[in-house]
Parts: sequence; structure tokens; C-alpha cells
Amino acid sequence: MKFIVNGGRKLKGAIDVRGSKNAALPALAATILSKRPCILDNLPLIGDIFTFISTLQAMGSQIDWLEEHKVRIDNSRLSPKKMPRDLICKIRASVLLLGPILARFGEVKISTPGGCHIGPRPIDIHLDAFRELGFSVRYSKDQDIYHIRRERRRVQKEITLNGLTVTGTENLLMYAALHPLKIKIAAIEPHIEDLGRLLVKMGAKINGFGSHTLEVKKPINSKGGVIKHSIMYDPIEAGTFIILAAATKSDIRIKHVPIDDLTLTLRKLEEFGVKFETRGQDVFVKGSRSKLTAVPRLVAQEHPGIPTDLQAPFGVLATQAKGETLIFDTIYEGRLKYLYELDKMGASIDILDSHRARIKGPAQLVGKNVESIDLRAGATLVIAALVARGESVLHQAEQIDRGYEKIDERLRMIKADIRRVE
Ligand code: EPU
Repeated sequence: MKFIVNGGRKLKGAIDVRGSKNAALPALAATILSKRPCILDNLPLIGDIFTFISTLQAMGSQIDWLEEHKVRIDNSRLSPKKMPRDLICKIRASVLLLGPILARFGEVKISTPGGCHIGPRPIDIHLDAFRELGFSVRYSKDQDIYHIRRERRRVQKEITLNGLTVTGTENLLMYAALHPLKIKIAAIEPHIEDLGRLLVKMGAKINGFGSHTLEVKKPINSKGGVIKHSIMYDPIEAGTFIILAAATKSDIRIKHVPIDDLTLTLRKLEEFGVKFETRGQDVFVKGSRSKLTAVPRLVAQEHPGIPTDLQAPFGVLATQAKGETLIFDTIYEGRLKYLYELDKMGASIDILDSHRARIKGPAQLVGKNVESIDLRAGATLVIAALVARGESVLHQAEQIDRGYEKIDERLRMIKADIRRVE
């Protein structure tokens, strides 16, 4: 599947931000913890969510769509023995099954989770934590299966994660929701707090949100009525749209922006010379009045730093800013590959190593045939194609559908010339 984009023109109008992918995935996983029905609202209609929902259904979960973005989930008859291997290998978020399944069933057999090709993505920190909690972990290389099983019922009160990991923290938090625990070196990304809010609605008592120590004081209630939760709006999608408006020099209103989760991102955009106003949860980008200038260093790191998921959109912004920007992705080794595609489109780029690159602007981008190497790179190339003069063909556009709901239809609402070709 590909997108054909005709760029070089200004966009205008308003665009809504959808629910956060990386908050919705752990929320879906957390429903495994309880036999009580859960209603989740504001789910984004994206590939990774459909894959995760199919995974749950294959394990016996009863899932009904109540409205366009709202589902009712009943996991009372779920069995982890029916884990669908082909789906597990498709997305990284499958790793989120570990915490809730081990908490509720004490045993899991799971193949290596898939995901974007953005460098090595080990799960050693997750596995070490479960070993420490009394589980054995056996890996069969021939079958690519991890067999994790509770060996001792160890009443451990505290665990220190061996490094900052988002899904690792979410796994341990979900585990702790049935077996209360203090988690040290917890990551503090906003969607971890969103997961926490759901667990609290399930009856848990949790201290320490926003800090690197989370403590579950009381487990979730097994009895009670329907649990209802609305997924937070996506800071990454919001940031992507703000950068899109700035890079195409367009005046666009972006609705439902989780502003408090984007503090440094918005500060950096100001430093780039992007003019915008915030009113409530809406951001009005005045791209036509912005004079983009390079920033000396743009460092992507853990929250509250610039999210690595926004590093690539910032990279395309840097191609339009006057001067030289150093981009430094401290998290992943393979997240600069999109720069080879921007280079084809006429950007001036010097890749220093697998984490750092220098980008010189402004460059007149021109439409080309490019590949969406991963989800965020794909969204970045959509922005680049809308900036570029002429026609671009974006191959492997299904990567973009994994994380952005009907992006072509929504961008057409703000006058983008983009069409999908199957
Ligand atoms: N790491 C390890 N061992 C582990 C776990 C992580 O060495 O056991 C390393 C990773 O290799 C990486 C760093 O620690 O260098 C951070 O990884 P983390 O575990 O925090 O990432 P993740 O949980 O796998 C989530 C998001 C990513 C997002 C990162 C960082 C989900 C499903 N995925 O991944 O989202 O980039 O946190 O914020 O929540 C995306 O949406 O495009 C995406 C890749």
C-alpha cells in the first residue's frame, strides 16, 4: 500500500488528536487482570490496536464495539494457552501481556514480540524483574518461545528495575496490581500514569505517579461493576501535527493536545521559531508567521525530555530551519534511517553515528519515491512529502496505519493532497 502526496502548498483548518496508541495498548493489556467487564473509550483505530484486540480475542476475550472508538471487554473466560503466535510477532506491545498474564495465571508461553525496526529491543529488564519475583524463565531458541512460570510464591515487597523502560514499568505495575509491590527506577512517561488511572478505577491504591518510585499499596478489586476508562489523547500525534503545520508554514488548529505532557517539546518548538498559541486544550499554530531557525541540539530522551517518537518529525522540521541542528536520539540505535530518505528528497544531512546527525537548513525538498521504514519514520515522510515540491510516493504506508488513524482522510480535511493506493 502506498500514499501519493502532492506537496508544496499550505494547509489550513482544524485537526483532532486521537487517543494515545501507547496508552491504549497497556490499557487493553490491563483488562486481562480482572474478570470484571471493562469499557475503554477513545481507542485510536489503528493497526497495532486491531492486532492487540485480535490477540485478546484469540485467547478467548469477548470484545464488543459499542461506538466508533469504544469497546466493552470481558476477559472472564480468557486463557493464555491459546496465545496466537503470528500476532505476537507482529507488534512490540505483545510484551505487555507478560505482566497481567503472570499476575493472573502465574505462567505464560510467548514468542518474541515484534515491532518497528529501530534497533535492538531486548526484554532482559522485564525478564530479570520476573526472575527476581520468583519466576523461572526458559527460552527455546528452536521454537522462539519463552516459558515463564512461577516457581516460588515469594512475598517480595520491592523491586528495582535494571534501567528505565516504559513497557517494563507497565508490566511490573500491572503485575503489582494483583501482587502489591514497590517499583523503583520506574519510567515516568505520561501513558504510565494513564495506565495507573485505569488500575485505580479497578480498585488499586497506587502512590508515586510522576516519580521514579511507584508503590501499589492495595490490589485491584475482583468484585464490582463495569470498569470504565477513557484513553488519554496522544502527545506524539499532537506533536506530529504541530510540526506538520510549522514545516508546511500553515495555520492549523490542533484540537485535544495534552499540553502538560509536551512541555519541553513546545519549548523547543518556540526555540525553532514556531509561532503558536494555546487555548485550553487546543494549539493554534501560525506557520505562515513563523521564521524557522535551527536549534543547536535536539536531544530525544526519556520523559520529560523530547520523546524519541518525535525525534524524526523534528528532523524534518530542522531541514526547513535556517542553520545547523544536531539531532541526538539517546534511546534507539536505528531511528535515524529516515534521514536517508530525506537525503533523497534534497535535505542536507550528515549522519555522524547511529544516534546523531547534523541537519543543515533550509533545504528545498522535492518529491521522490521513499520508504516508510517504521511507523514514526513514515509519519515524518508524510510531513516531508507535504513540504516538498511535486509528487512523492510513500511505499509501505501500512506502517503509518499502525499508529495514526486514517491519516490520509484526516489530512485531506486540512486540504492536504494525499491519496491511498492499494
Ligand atoms: N531496553 C533494554 N532492555 C529492556 C527494555 C528496554 O535494554 O528490557 C532498552 C531499549 O532497547 C531502549 C530503551 O531501553 O534502548 C528504552 O526502551 P523502552 O523499554 O522504554 O521502550 P519500549 O517500552 O519498548 C515504548 C514505546 C515506544 C517508545 C519507547 C520510548 C510502546 C508499545 N512502545 O517502547 O513506542 O519509543 O517506549 O518512549 O509503548 C512507537 O510508538 O513508535 C514506539 C516505538
